[in-house]
Amino acid sequence: MRIVRGWRQYLYDDAGRAYLDAINNVAHVGHGHPRVVAAAHRQMALLNTNSRFLYGSMVEYAERLTALLPDPLRVVFFVCTGSEANDLALRLARAYTRQHDVIVIDGEYHGNTTAVDEISTSLLDNPAAKDTRPWVHAVMRPNTYRGPYGADDPACGEKYAAEVRAAIERVRAQGRSPAAFFTEGLLGSSGGIALPDGYLPHVYAAVRAAGGVCIADEVQVGFGRVGTHFWAFETQGVVPDIVTMGKPIGNGHPLSAVVTTPAIAEAFRATTSYFNTYGGNPVSCEVGMAVLDVIEQEGLQASALEVGRHFKAALRDLMGRHALIGAVYGLGMYMGVELVRDRDTKQPATAEALALAERMRELGVIVYPTGDHYNILKIKPPLVFSRANAEFFAAMLDRALREGVAV
Ligand SMILES: Cc1ncc(COP(=O)(O)O)c(C=O)c1O
Repeated sequence: MRIVRGWRQYLYDDAGRAYLDAINNVAHVGHGHPRVVAAAHRQMALLNTNSRFLYGSMVEYAERLTALLPDPLRVVFFVCTGSEANDLALRLARAYTRQHDVIVIDGEYHGNTTAVDEISTSLLDNPAAKDTRPWVHAVMRPNTYRGPYGADDPACGEKYAAEVRAAIERVRAQGRSPAAFFTEGLLGSSGGIALPDGYLPHVYAAVRAAGGVCIADEVQVGFGRVGTHFWAFETQGVVPDIVTMGKPIGNGHPLSAVVTTPAIAEAFRATTSYFNTYGGNPVSCEVGMAVLDVIEQEGLQASALEVGRHFKAALRDLMGRHALIGAVYGLGMYMGVELVRDRDTKQPATAEALALAERMRELGVIVYPTGDHYNILKIKPPLVFSRANAEFFAAMLDRALREGVAV
């Protein structure tokens, strides 16, 4: 495909063919949203500059973002990518705790700078991560489908959290303590896996008791996508010490942010200063505010909840008819369909996932595999996706599965 245009939840190729975009959480409020485009255009013509200058929109935007977060998350840093946001979060945590070790969930991805590449243990991106960084401690992914504790166990959240406690003990046994625990509130890069109830409350208590800070990576899953809440961490009833944002925040414009507490920001200021030429420039701030306006005015969080429920039910229905679907993950409009060759052995259906994605493309739907074994179809469309779009997606997946996947 040579994609030449995006409009709402559709992408168009150079022959004018439309594809339903089921994968683009960056174009959160829809491709080419006129309000976002107009904001960028207007501000670009008026003033764009290095963020050393004073202009009102940076303060106004910071206030809009913090109004969406619980206390004491009140200090905002503007940066340009999700990787930069997580990199800065790590620096903040290390400055505050004066420790270096980081606990992460096995298989998660947090970005591409040297520091966040080190803490990204996704097999696809970083196969050597766990063997080469003794300060990085990857804990078992709390996946009730594949892990030892299933969703039928009411204490599964606490049992997976015990893995974090064990990691803390291992760090302590070496005479150190953790600087930070990093996770997404919904495991997006692992395929849309929702955390079991009670997981983060137990983990956060253990990490804080050990002197570490808790970082929520909302780069993929924030801004209303999970439907019930604006932030994915809120689904677990916790308040992080640092929240990082990216992708949807600028609807495709390179903008991201880190929000933390005054105490952590002060500890950072005591050790260093931070400057970012483009982070929070006047155009970025106008774009960011336009995105927030659209989410609110078009009721996109409520839509994520309503369409997401309908969508997930349609995918679960397919699971009843096609043995290749082993699990349907997700919350709101962030979902994953895990494909397995055998429901008992759960052998990943990797080649089948790619073949299905190819067939879906021929049928006019863009979706792609993710996960350690590339066998989970990730579904995270622009939030303007409708019920009819969800039904079309499910009908095309049904059709592709009925035809059989040649591998
Ligand atoms: C969870 C998560 N955090 C951080 C990042 C890095 O964001 P960026 O690619 O904007 O640097 C990604 C990118 O895929 C991500 O999935």
